[in-house]
Amino acid sequence: MALILRQMSGARSQTKGMPVISVSKRSAVEPFHAMDLLGAATRRRQTGKPVISMAVGQPSHPAPQRALEAARQALAHGRIGYTDALGLIELRQGLSDYYSTRHGVTIDPGRILVTTGSSAGFNLAFLGLFDPGDVVAIARPGYPAYRNILNALGLRVLEVGVDAESHFTLTPESLEAAQRAAGCKLSGVLLASPANPTGTVTGRAQLKALMDYCGTQDITLISDEIYHGLTYSGDESSALEIGDEVIVINSFSKYYCMTGWRIGWMVVPDHLVRPLECLTQSLYISAPELSQIAAIAALGATDELDGYKASCRANRDFLQKRLQDLGMPLLSPMDGAFYAYADVSAFTNDSMDFAYKMLAEIDVAATPGRDFDPVDGHRAMRFSYAGSRADMVEATDRIAAWLAK
Ligand SMILES: Cc1ncc(COP(=O)(O)O)c(C=O)c1O
Repeated sequence: MALILRQMSGARSQTKGMPVISVSKRSAVEPFHAMDLLGAATRRRQTGKPVISMAVGQPSHPAPQRALEAARQALAHGRIGYTDALGLIELRQGLSDYYSTRHGVTIDPGRILVTTGSSAGFNLAFLGLFDPGDVVAIARPGYPAYRNILNALGLRVLEVGVDAESHFTLTPESLEAAQRAAGCKLSGVLLASPANPTGTVTGRAQLKALMDYCGTQDITLISDEIYHGLTYSGDESSALEIGDEVIVINSFSKYYCMTGWRIGWMVVPDHLVRPLECLTQSLYISAPELSQIAAIAALGATDELDGYKASCRANRDFLQKRLQDLGMPLLSPMDGAFYAYADVSAFTNDSMDFAYKMLAEIDVAATPGRDFDPVDGHRAMRFSYAGSRADMVEATDRIAAWLAK
């Protein structure tokens, strides 16, 4: 099993003849290549190029109608202000109802914190749970921002390779082996299900085995459930169905189609609420009130959102076959989320170069596997199918013609 124990590396910048402004070591994180690609695609589009982006996990569907209407009404009343750091009680209550309806568990709204997207939830969790030097395990391939945030906060990242043998998820055995090989003791484990970029859904039995292991080893499990609502195969259990000794992070960005509203939430054990509230007060004050109001309404929009999910499922079926026909077999099954993680080794050994050439030559943006996997990602690309079918058909037609040249 391949694994890497990563540590911060830093840099100082100095311009000749100018006052020296230092750059912190902690800011020397890797670029988030999907976001770089998004930026490059946007710049090309601004020059009139017919760019299609399958680079970021961003639904083409707008925020649900109910959410938009609630936001319009709030704007008509004029004042949008700070809220309690923990969030509007109506939203926290709505989220508590969500757990009862979707997962059959009772969660006290007092344990729910509203955050500025799940990204803020990661900052809060890492700051609230760990100290500099602590080691946190993540899956490789996995969402790159985990690695970058952990590094920026002075934590050490243990990347644990996942593959078909481990059903592309972290297991007690793989965590044990990785710690032994790296000679370290984990403080935390971060697991996403459904996962980005592999689409893996970690079933209830596997999740329970992981939680039991973490419980006995004094390891805190953080469960990233941001792709809940977008599972096509397998069971979508919340870690909260299994126990309360877990940190759950979620967001309105994906199933709820509200990426730009920057609104998410976390569920934590009682004793963590106050420390995380204090961190939130100083780091963010509160999540945006307008987005919180819209999110309350979005929770009731499941009919509309299940329609979006159905379109994702159809896109998935289309892309699964199309990539195979293009000579890019899937590296993992597309059980959830909205990504195809494909093997492009028939065409390149440098996915970064492949991605930028594809953008420059046929105006199609997709994300190099290097973003998710520093070891094997050079032979993989991630294609997001969160967008429209028409875009996907056009993008893959362009790719087919390009590869045929
Ligand atoms: C696995 C995973 N977690 C978290 C995020 C961040 O989402 P947000 O901050 O929009 O809630 C993403 C975004 O793509 C993701 O893929």
